[in-house]
Amino acid sequence: MIVRAKIKGCGSYLPERILTNDQLAERVETSDEWIQQRTGIKHRYIAGENELTSDLATKAALAALEHANINVSEVDLIVCATATPDETFPATATVVQKNLGVTKGAAFDLQAVCSGFVYGLSVVDSLIQTGQAKTALLIGAETFSRILDWEDRSTCVLFGDGAGAIVLQAEEGNGDTSDSGILSTHIYADGRCHDALYVDGGPSSTGTAGFLRMEGKEVFRQAVTRMPEAIDAALKKSDLGPEAIDWLVPHQANIRIIEAMGKKLKLPKERVVVTVDKHANTSAASIPLALTEAVYDGRIKRGDMIMMAAMGGGFTWGSALLRW
Ligand code: UT7
Repeated sequence: MIVRAKIKGCGSYLPERILTNDQLAERVETSDEWIQQRTGIKHRYIAGENELTSDLATKAALAALEHANINVSEVDLIVCATATPDETFPATATVVQKNLGVTKGAAFDLQAVCSGFVYGLSVVDSLIQTGQAKTALLIGAETFSRILDWEDRSTCVLFGDGAGAIVLQAEEGNGDTSDSGILSTHIYADGRCHDALYVDGGPSSTGTAGFLRMEGKEVFRQAVTRMPEAIDAALKKSDLGPEAIDWLVPHQANIRIIEAMGKKLKLPKERVVVTVDKHANTSAASIPLALTEAVYDGRIKRGDMIMMAAMGGGFTWGSALLRW
């Protein structure tokens, strides 16, 4: 018998305001046609003026707790994956802790940009397996609209705001792939790729929050090789072939990247969860947002095998294999 981190429920939250491609075309030289053709994005959600990352995170966390039917008093770990915290410190996770009324255990943020949720699964899995937490909230929450240069058409059309969360609990498992819960995580980084995707500000450099800068082509090129490599590592570790995957729930940055991954795995399109059309790229929130949609609409069912993969600034990237 071993300890597994089982996912008991999920939830998400999107701000009210929708920003369409046509509305963006009124601000910068772009078009609905270009954005849809190159990225698959139709619209994105933008947080209200007074809406903070912690507000989105708290709402997603509450939805996840309700879906899991777990009382907030059981939570003893809150990890918030975000690159857009409310403040430089303290961690947004501690604001969520206060908002939820949790007074025990640990709370901290995790910074791996778009790979934050997959990194978070790895960290929470370890803390649960070593007995340091029993009931954890893992949240991916972002307000990327606050770090976009709204005059740069090559980046401002690609991102959106939102939050997703899951509740994980320690349960006994057999130690093989018949278990439900997290089966493996593989996380990587290569700091040499900094210049391809970064924010040109921060507390110890400019003293400002800065704006996102990206060499889109280079990120694209690396994403279509590194994410499949991380998926391969997960399949090898569990001695499985791609046919064992019921659902690919990838980071949502570009439909062409997602389709390329699905093709490499020879997965039929219906087995790949896509939300980039509606949400755009919400960084660490994109995977839990997509997961929640597919769980709530009944596509993902208990017992299904799920593969997640993400890549983001750093570069950071990784995969997570789990049975729902
Ligand atoms: O979550 C982190 C990971 N991020 C990603 O995974 C993003 C990865 N990269 C991408 O998704 C794509 O590279 C982009 C969507 C960013 C760009 O697509 P692309 O097919 O690589 O286009 P490009 O950068 O080669 O640009 C093609 C043309 C350029 O014009 P020229 O130089 O060919 O005349 C751009 O100036 O499209 C132009 N362009 C635009 N045109 C209209 C760039 N942005 C826009 C725009 N509207 N918004």
